Amino acid sequence: MSIKHIPMAVPDLSGNELEYLTDCVDSTWISARGPYVEKFEKAFADFVGIEHAIAVSNGTVALHLILLGLGVGPGDEVIVPSLTYIATANAVKYVGATPVFVDSDPATWNIDPEAIARAITDKTRAVIPVHLYGAAADMKEINAICEKRGIAVIEDAAEALGTYIGDVHAGLHGTSGSFSFFANKTVTTGEGGMVVTHDQRLADRFRLLMDQGQSPVNKYQHDVIGYNYRITNLQAAVGTAQMERVEKFIATKQRIAGIYKSRFGDQPVRFAEINDGTTHAQWMTSMLIDDMDRASRDRLISRLNSLGIESRPFFFPIHKMAMYEDASGPSLPVCEDLGSRGISLPSSVTLCDEDISYVCDTFTSLLQTRDF
Ligand SMILES: Cc1ncc(COP(=O)(O)O)c(C=O)c1O
Repeated sequence: MSIKHIPMAVPDLSGNELEYLTDCVDSTWISARGPYVEKFEKAFADFVGIEHAIAVSNGTVALHLILLGLGVGPGDEVIVPSLTYIATANAVKYVGATPVFVDSDPATWNIDPEAIARAITDKTRAVIPVHLYGAAADMKEINAICEKRGIAVIEDAAEALGTYIGDVHAGLHGTSGSFSFFANKTVTTGEGGMVVTHDQRLADRFRLLMDQGQSPVNKYQHDVIGYNYRITNLQAAVGTAQMERVEKFIATKQRIAGIYKSRFGDQPVRFAEINDGTTHAQWMTSMLIDDMDRASRDRLISRLNSLGIESRPFFFPIHKMAMYEDASGPSLPVCEDLGSRGISLPSSVTLCDEDISYVCDTFTSLLQTRDF
């Protein structure tokens, strides 16, 4: 009998991806210029509902580009959640600014607005809320805190394609927002990212910086020191095909999460609370396990793996990592607790009902028997 392997999150490339890629190869437009870049940007902008969507090579450089475009640099502080993917903090370091880590809200697991308010100093230039695992951060509160102090809000919406706050898509509530299209994301381009903004001047600045600082009118005249953060026509071709099915992907993720939630109703697990008036795109179905410490959670992950089920731990709080650890910094107990007890289960758009059942049965049985 073959052993099952149920991956965490793999893409569905069965639409027009191959046809559009073949088109790129046939036309020899494989680098950054080519018709799919514009098509992808337009499809994305139309879907999320924004004027300016700028495709870049990945979600990390999307954040870097926004910080550069806003002129954040040495001497500035940028408030970030500690419970996030490392790129959120690294982008702040890339511009020479200082990331200031704050704690998470214990109910929603997202950055705690009150902790943001407490962390603001006269050096604070920006806040980067992250919509963790697809759950919306409290943008109303965060904007209220930042607006009156003139602090930029950069939404890291890498995991939040399909998340809405009111009827406005995540990533569109602050000064600028970023998305990621890594292969495990809801929409993928292999590697890829998007920067969005409502502000024409900022959009022009981002386009200048991402294209080697090259003058938009005079070729090979460079106005500033820029970067090569362009997406390729090949990546954008995949993205264009993916955007044709984005609604289906999001609905599938939400359906998978719904099954997990109903199957685990009587299990010792807790899902994130969803802020009023927001939707959860369920990029990953993530939960906290009661009475669990880091060592047993990690053993559970290994045991699931041996039974053919890939799962992943929550992010490791960044303020505890060697390059960011500051002995004098505050302890952040909520995110430390979440980071040690959280687990995400397989959430691929290709997951079939039989595999979801297998994951639910196996997970439930392990939790009951504590056989790990
Ligand atoms: C919250 C968050 N921010 C930023 C990124 C960086 O995106 P990329 O991997 O495309 O560079 C990711 C990707 O996993 C992410 O989850």
